[in-house]
Amino acid sequence: MGCLTWTHQLLCLQLLLLYYQGCAIPCTDEESYALLQFKQLFSYEKKQSFYCDRQLLPSYPKMRSWKVDSDCCSWDGVTCNTVTGHLIGLDLDCSWLYGSIPSNTSLLLLPHLQRLNLAFNDFNLSPISSEFAQFHSLTLLNLSSSNFAGQLSSEISHMSNLVSLDLSYNHEVILETRIFEGLVQNLTLLEQLVLDSVDMSAVTIGSLTNVSPSLISLSLSSCGLQGTFPENFFWLPNLQILELAYNQNLTGFFPKENWSSPLRFLDVSYTNFSGLLPQQFGNAEAFGSP
Ligand SMILES: *[C@@H]1O[C@H](CO)[C@@H](O)[C@H](O)[C@H]1NC(C)=O
Ligand SMILES: *[C@@H]1O[C@H](CO)[C@@H](O)[C@H](O)[C@H]1NC(C)=O
Ligand SMILES: *[C@@H]1O[C@H](CO)[C@@H](O)[C@H](O)[C@H]1NC(C)=O
Ligand SMILES: *[C@@H]1O[C@H](CO)[C@@H](O)[C@H](O)[C@H]1NC(C)=O
Ligand SMILES: *[C@@H]1O[C@H](CO)[C@@H](O)[C@H](O)[C@H]1NC(C)=O
Ligand SMILES: *[C@@H]1O[C@H](CO)[C@@H](O)[C@H](O)[C@H]1NC(C)=O
Repeated sequence: MGCLTWTHQLLCLQLLLLYYQGCAIPCTDEESYALLQFKQLFSYEKKQSFYCDRQLLPSYPKMRSWKVDSDCCSWDGVTCNTVTGHLIGLDLDCSWLYGSIPSNTSLLLLPHLQRLNLAFNDFNLSPISSEFAQFHSLTLLNLSSSNFAGQLSSEISHMSNLVSLDLSYNHEVILETRIFEGLVQNLTLLEQLVLDSVDMSAVTIGSLTNVSPSLISLSLSSCGLQGTFPENFFWLPNLQILELAYNQNLTGFFPKENWSSPLRFLDVSYTNFSGLLPQQFGNAEAFGSP
């Protein structure tokens, strides 16, 4: 390039730009419309995302830069598949959002969504819509710390491609036995389930069998769990992280044999667990009852 004149270099640059513009498939009018409708539901207030500062996560109103007359694939927080052009990712965590999400939310016009992260906002006690079950392609759903509320509906376990589900720190969300069963039994690809501080006081956890062997990480601290924790969780072939702290009424016994899980993190502090950890878990970080 050293011997090229300025005009040549400019020409090159223009060709390169044309090439990129020709390659990227813009999002459809429907996708644009869906996002702009969704945007209208909210006002921005920094305090709604105060957790993000504490966790050193970037926190700013991503939607503010969304412009009507531009390709929505280029918008902040939006990811499109470069081959099909479909909108596949929406990451609006820490976006200062305050407002309610109706059950017929325009997000449902984005059927190709694979990841949806709305964590650390304030959705003003909105229910987690049963219509979310229409997101058949969704592999990641993260609604952590975003002030959702209400009984979780059974349709959530119809999102059969879910790999990671985080509903933690929505203190007003209530989970019943049947729904929890649906999550850990019917979602056979689920690897990460995070439900800390969700109200599970009505869940009879002791009767749980046939837990999906796909589970790698299960986090249920401060869920108000009671009864006896089923031993079969310790037999899960892929479980690496088991977080059960702050369930004072949860009784548990470490199995004497058949620990098959490659557990490396176990927290049972402030629970009613007893028994000995087997020798083979010398490497696991265990936090026992105080
Ligand atoms: C949702 O329903 C309300 C009331 O029925 C309606 O006004 C609104 O346009 C609907 N929104 C969408 C995105 O369909
Ligand atoms: C959910 O999103 C928050 C904010 O980005 C992040 O801190 C958390 O780790 C995510 N949860 C999972 C299970 O990835
Ligand atoms: C889980 O799957 C079983 C068998 O297909 C079905 O009977 C049950 O209703 C499902 N549970 C939920 C919560 O969808
Ligand atoms: C434990 O059980 C007792 C008696 O049923 C109840 O009063 C208390 O609130 C429970 N504690 C927790 C943390 O669920
Ligand atoms: C704690 O576990 C013991 C059995 O090890 C049981 O007798 C007791 O009732 C349990 N306490 C609570 C609060 O669940
Ligand atoms: C441990 O596994 C063996 C062989 O699979 C089985 O016979 C035995 O009943 C199991 N023990 C317990 C406590 O489940």
